[in-house]
Amino acid sequence: MNNFNNLVDMDDYTVPQWNEIIGLAEKIKANPEEYSEKCRGKIMATLFYEPSTRTQMSFQAAMIRLGGNIIGFDNPGNSSVAKGENLKDTIKIVSTYSDILVMRHTQEGSAKAAALVADCHVINAGDGGHLHPTQTLTDLLTLKCELGRLDNLTVGLCGDLKYGRTVHSLVKALSCYPNNKFVLISTPDLALPSYIKDVIRARGSEFTEVNTIDEAIKDLDMLYMTRIQRERFADDSEYERQKDVYCLTKAKMQYARKDMIVMHPLPRVNEIEVAVDDDPRAAYFRQANNGMYVRMALILYTMTREPKIKPLLVGEIHKDIACTNPKCVTRTEEYLPHSFINRGDILVCEYCDERILL
Ligand code: CP
Repeated sequence: MNNFNNLVDMDDYTVPQWNEIIGLAEKIKANPEEYSEKCRGKIMATLFYEPSTRTQMSFQAAMIRLGGNIIGFDNPGNSSVAKGENLKDTIKIVSTYSDILVMRHTQEGSAKAAALVADCHVINAGDGGHLHPTQTLTDLLTLKCELGRLDNLTVGLCGDLKYGRTVHSLVKALSCYPNNKFVLISTPDLALPSYIKDVIRARGSEFTEVNTIDEAIKDLDMLYMTRIQRERFADDSEYERQKDVYCLTKAKMQYARKDMIVMHPLPRVNEIEVAVDDDPRAAYFRQANNGMYVRMALILYTMTREPKIKPLLVGEIHKDIACTNPKCVTRTEEYLPHSFINRGDILVCEYCDERILL
C-alpha cells in the first residue's frame, strides 16, 4: 500500500484531476505572487541520474517560487551512488529528508521502483525511454494556452516515437480527450511501440502512420517535433542512420495552416531549423516556460491533496520470470518483486510495460 500522491504515470490521476492541475497552472501563471508562500517550510529533493536542463531547473524554480527549499543532485557521480548504493537505499534516505521527491533515471520503471520504497510523494521526471508525465502536463497546458482546447485536435508527432518518452505520455493523455487524431511521422525503425498504439485503439482514437512531414503538415493543429536520441540506441551506427531524417524548415512551414503550432519538448539538435524560431507558430520556447507554471501547480496539488491510498503493484509476482527489456529497472535492482499483469497470452511488466509472450 502507498499513501502518497505519486505521479509515476499520467493515469495516477484522472482526466478531471489533470484539468484541475492545468487550471491551477493557468491561475498561477496569471498571478504568481499570490502563491509565493504556499510551500514555505517544505523541501523538495531533485535526484537527476540523467542530464536535464528544463525539467530539473523548472522544478527547482517552481519550488523556490512557491517559497519552499530544494536539495538533491544532478550528477549521481557526486553522491553515494558512485560508491555502489542501490536505488532503494538512496530513495529511502532522501525521502525522509524531503516532502516531495522528483527523480529522473536512465532505467525504465525506475519511478515506480522509487515510489515503492519512498517515505514521501514521488514524481517521475522521466524514466529512460518510458514515460515523462510532467512534460505531458506542460504540453497540455501549452495546448490549452495556445489553441484553447484539448479535444478535436489533429496532432502530428514526428521523430523518435519508439524511445520518445514525451511522445508516449502525451499520446496516452490526449487519447483520453474526445475526437483527437494522431498522425505518426517516423521511420519504420522508430515507430510508436505497439502497446501505445493499443492504448490509442482502446480509447477509440484514430491514428495514421506516414514517413514524411510533407505528407502530414497541411492537416495539423499541432506538430510535435522530437529529437532522435543518441543515448537511447544500443548501436551508434543505427543512430547515425536515423539522426538527420527529419528537419522542420521554414520552407516546410509554408504548407502548414496559419493557426498550426509547433511544439517540441526540447532539447533541439537539428530537427527544427533555427529560422523557424521567428515564426509566431513556433511555440516551443513558450512551452518550456509553461513547464515551470505547471510544475508549481503539480507541487501544490501533490502537497495539499488528501492522499489516495492505493497499491503500486497489483499484478502477479513471478520469481522465476525476468522482464525481457534490458533497460527495465528490475534487471539491475534485483531486490524488486517481478510483478506482471496477466493478459492471458502475455505478461505485462508492471514497471516498464514490456510485453512478454507466454
Ligand atoms: N523536455 C525535457 O525533458 O528537457 P530536459 O531534458 O532538458 O529536462
